[in-house]
Amino acid sequence: MSEWVLLLGGSTGHGAATAKRLSRDGYGVIAFHFDRGDAKKIAEATIAEVNKITKGRCHYFNTNATSEDTMDKFIPKIKEITKGKPLKLLLHSIAFGTTTNFFGEKPVTQRQMDMTVHVMGNSLLYWTQKLYDSELLASGSRVIGLTSEGNYLAMEGYGPVSVAKVAMEAIIRQIGWELGELGITANAVQAGITPTRALTKITEKWEEWVESTKRRNPMRRTTTPEDVAGTISMLLMAEADFINCSIIYCDGGESRSGTF
Ligand SMILES: NC(=O)c1ccc[n+]([C@@H]2O[C@H](COP(=O)([O-])OP(=O)(O)OC[C@H]3O[C@@H](n4cnc5c(N)ncnc54)[C@H](O)[C@@H]3O)[C@@H](O)[C@H]2O)c1
Repeated sequence: MSEWVLLLGGSTGHGAATAKRLSRDGYGVIAFHFDRGDAKKIAEATIAEVNKITKGRCHYFNTNATSEDTMDKFIPKIKEITKGKPLKLLLHSIAFGTTTNFFGEKPVTQRQMDMTVHVMGNSLLYWTQKLYDSELLASGSRVIGLTSEGNYLAMEGYGPVSVAKVAMEAIIRQIGWELGELGITANAVQAGITPTRALTKITEKWEEWVESTKRRNPMRRTTTPEDVAGTISMLLMAEADFINCSIIYCDGGESRSGTF
């Protein structure tokens, strides 16, 4: 099987931890990120570390991975990098969207909804279609996306992302249903609340969310990007070949614990 993984959003948070973990597991890493300013500094540190672990078997591209032009431009490059071998993993770990309510001071617009659902949901479908057409997905390949409890709960500012998560889950289910007979699986990993850059963008009250999550979570802590990276690493094992069209919870039981 292939020794390469493709991470969409591999510079910070869950994607960065996954890049480091899968590097240590022996995979070469191809990743996209879209960072400016402070985020770019974090990205540079991640890239340096992954580069070191993989001994140079690492390619990071700082560009908008959700545009069709990017997909068409970079897929031939990806094929060159893997020498035509299919990828072990396509991971969607992109966080970029509008975080506002549907009503009130700044009601979400159609443009913001369309952008958020495309970036955080539908773009995974177009990547999967194009990689499949380029024979970069084959038996043993995994398609994984990250979802959250916001896929079935309403919360402050999360409406547009929530819609994107539901779209992504439906896309994943359908990919796994259509490609399962070829040995290609698709699953979502549902992470608990994780203090990452993305969380700070959802609400100004993110620190309060973290504290209340620690109380609510049966394991009395928030999720870490390393927890999620470990779950993804596990899902790449041959023992996970038959896990398909599923949501795997990596949240210490948070989503099963009532609020108080
Ligand atoms: N943080 C949480 O509490 C939490 C919980 C559950 C699920 N998730 C999901 O995990 C995923 C990753 O989020 P995170 O918390 O690690 O956030 P993060 O902000 O740390 O990481 C986001 C990544 O997306 C990249 N990115 C953003 N726009 C991009 C674009 N257009 N093209 C290419 N790359 C782009 C960034 O460069 C970065 O690598 C998201 O789908 C998020 O919804 C997060």
